[in-house]
Amino acid sequence: MRQAFPVTQLRPGPHDVSSILADLTADHVDREFLGNVELHLPRLHDLFVQLYGDRADGFESLASVVDLARRSWAARPADLKAVDRGRASDPDWFADERMVGGVCYVDRYAGGLSGIRDAIPYFRELGLTYLHLMPLFESPEGNSDGGYAVSSYRRVDPKLGTMQELAELATELRRAGISLVVDFIFNHTSNEHRWAKKAIAGDAGYEDFYLIFPDREMPDAYEQTTREIFPDDHPGSFVQLDDGRWIWATFYHFQWDLNYANPAVFEAMTGEMLFLANQGVEILRMDAVAFIWKRLGTTCESLPEAHLLLQAFNAVLRMAAPGLLFKSEAIVHPDEVVSYISPEECQISYNPLQMALTWEALATRDARLLQQALERRHALPPGTAWVNYVRSHDDIGWTFADEDAAELGIDGYPHRRFLNDFYVGRAPGSFARGVPFQENPRTGDARVTGTTASLAGIEAGDAGGEDRVVLAHALALSTGGIPLLYLGDEVAQLNDYGYADRPEEAGDSRWVHRPFRPEGAYAERTDATTPAGRVFSRLTRLIDVRRSTPEFAGNELVAFDARVSSVVAFLRPGDHGFAVFVVANVADTAVEIDALTLSGLAPEALDIVTSHPVWLGAGLTVPAHGVRWLRVRLR
Ligand code: GLC
Repeated sequence: MRQAFPVTQLRPGPHDVSSILADLTADHVDREFLGNVELHLPRLHDLFVQLYGDRADGFESLASVVDLARRSWAARPADLKAVDRGRASDPDWFADERMVGGVCYVDRYAGGLSGIRDAIPYFRELGLTYLHLMPLFESPEGNSDGGYAVSSYRRVDPKLGTMQELAELATELRRAGISLVVDFIFNHTSNEHRWAKKAIAGDAGYEDFYLIFPDREMPDAYEQTTREIFPDDHPGSFVQLDDGRWIWATFYHFQWDLNYANPAVFEAMTGEMLFLANQGVEILRMDAVAFIWKRLGTTCESLPEAHLLLQAFNAVLRMAAPGLLFKSEAIVHPDEVVSYISPEECQISYNPLQMALTWEALATRDARLLQQALERRHALPPGTAWVNYVRSHDDIGWTFADEDAAELGIDGYPHRRFLNDFYVGRAPGSFARGVPFQENPRTGDARVTGTTASLAGIEAGDAGGEDRVVLAHALALSTGGIPLLYLGDEVAQLNDYGYADRPEEAGDSRWVHRPFRPEGAYAERTDATTPAGRVFSRLTRLIDVRRSTPEFAGNELVAFDARVSSVVAFLRPGDHGFAVFVVANVADTAVEIDALTLSGLAPEALDIVTSHPVWLGAGLTVPAHGVRWLRVRLR
C-alpha cells in the first residue's frame, strides 16, 4: 500500500534520524527506550518522508513526536512496562483460545465506572479476557453520537467517573485477567473540542487542524466522489458554519474531521494516544480508519496515506507503549478491510464480512456466500487476528463483495435490498424485527439495526430464534481470533423501542439495539424455562468449551465442502492429526451430510459440547439451525 516516491531524508539537518538518536543518547534515556527507538525510528522517519516530505515543518514534527514518546515512556507506570515485556515474550497472546471479549456502554450497562468495577465478578464468570468500554470521554450534551464526538481525550465524561477511576479500573481488570479496550476516535473531534473552538476562531496554529473552506467551491468538488455516510443528518461530507464557511464532517454535523495533511495534527493526536496508553488501556479501537486521509477526485476512503498514518501511529506506540494493540474499525469492501491488518498497522480487526454473511445465511437459508468467505477471505498474516462478532453497537451493512456474490449467481444490489427488507420485517415470512438505519431513497442504500435476539427471531416468537442466536455465536466463537460478545446478548436482550421517545436518540435507530442493562433477563439467566436462561446456558457452555479447545487458537481454518447448500463447515486443525470439525445448518429443517463426504475423517468422533461420542461412518445429521463442534481425526 505504500506510495512509490523515493525515500530520502525529510530535510537533512538537526532533526535527521542520527541526530535525534544522538540527542537521546546525550540525554541518558534508558536503554530499553533507546532500543525501541533504534528499532522503530527509521520506519517512522520513512513514513514521515512519505506523508510530510514536501512540508517545511515535517521534520520538526517528527522530532516533537519522538520527544512526546520519550516523555510518555518516562511517565509510563512500572506495571505497564511489565505488561509490555510480557507481551513481547508472548506475542500471540491475543490469538489464544482463552480470549473472549465483551463490549458495553458504561452508563447503560453499569451506571458508571464504579458499576463496571462491581461487574468484574460477572465478567470473570463469563470468562471475559477483553472488555471494550464504549466511548466514555467528555462529549457534547444531548446527541454526541454515543460519545463518538469527543471534546477531550483526557477527561472522562463526569457522569461516568474520572480518568483516575478509569486508570484504577484498568489495573483491577488486568488483575482479573481482562484487557481494557477503549476507542481512539482520531478521525474527528466534536465541535466543542478545544482545537475546534480555536480553529474556527482562527487561532494561530489551529486553522489547519480541520478542513474549512470559504465557500462551496471545494466542498462541491470533493462531493463529486465522496459517499454520504449519515444522510439523515446532512447531505454530503460538509456542513456550514455559522459564519457561512464550510467544514468537513463525514458523520454528524458536530463531528469535524481532522486534517492529517497537517503534521501538527498527527503530533497532537500522538499526545492523546500516548496519554491513553499510560492509563492502562491495552487495546485501542481505531475508529473510522478508512476516512482519515482526503484527496480531491477520490472517494476519500482507504487512501494509501491512511495506511501510512496508521503505521506511523503504530511505530510511535512501539517506542513508548509497546504492549498495546490497534484494532481496526474498517467497515468497507472486504479487500480493504484486510489491507489494514498487519503487525505494522492494526494487529486485530473487526470481521464485518463474517458478521454480515452469518446474517445473510440465516435469512436466505443458504450458507454458500459465508462458506465462500471462510474459504477465501479468512486467512490473515501471521501476528494478526480477527475480532469476530455477531453484532455491534452499529448497524449491519451488507459489505460482501459483489464479485464474490456474482460467482454464485447472486446479484449484489437486489440481494442487499432483500436483506434489508428481510431484517426490517418487510419480507414475507421474515422472523426478524430490525429497524432501518440511514435509508437513502436516492441511492436505495440502507442498513439494519436490532439486537441479536430481535433479529434472530426471538422477539417475533419464531421457533428457530434461540437456535439462531446460538448458531451465530458458535461461529464467532470457533472461526479464530477474538470472539466479541455484545453484553446483554448472552441473556437474549430484545430491542429497546423506548429510544424513539428520547429526543437525543430518536433520530438514530442504532439506539434500538443499545438497550439498558436487561435486569429482568439477567435475573432469569439460571431459569431454563425462559429464553434468557436457555440462551445463557447454551452460550456459556460454548464459551467454556472454547476455552479448553486449543484448536480454536490462532486463525488456521480449512473450509470443508459438506455438499449441502445450507451448511457451513470447516476444520480447525490441531495436533497429532486431530481437528475440530464445525458444522452449522441454517435451514429450517434437518439436513444429512453423507458418509462419502465425511470419508476423509475417521468415523469415531467426539462432540465436545455434549461430551458424547459421535459415529460418522453413516453420515451426520445436522438439525434445523443446529451447530456441532466435533473433535475428529483426519485420515
Ligand atoms: C464508528 C463508530 C460509530 C460512529 C462513527 C463515527 O463507525 O462505530 O458508532 O458513529 O465511527 O465516529
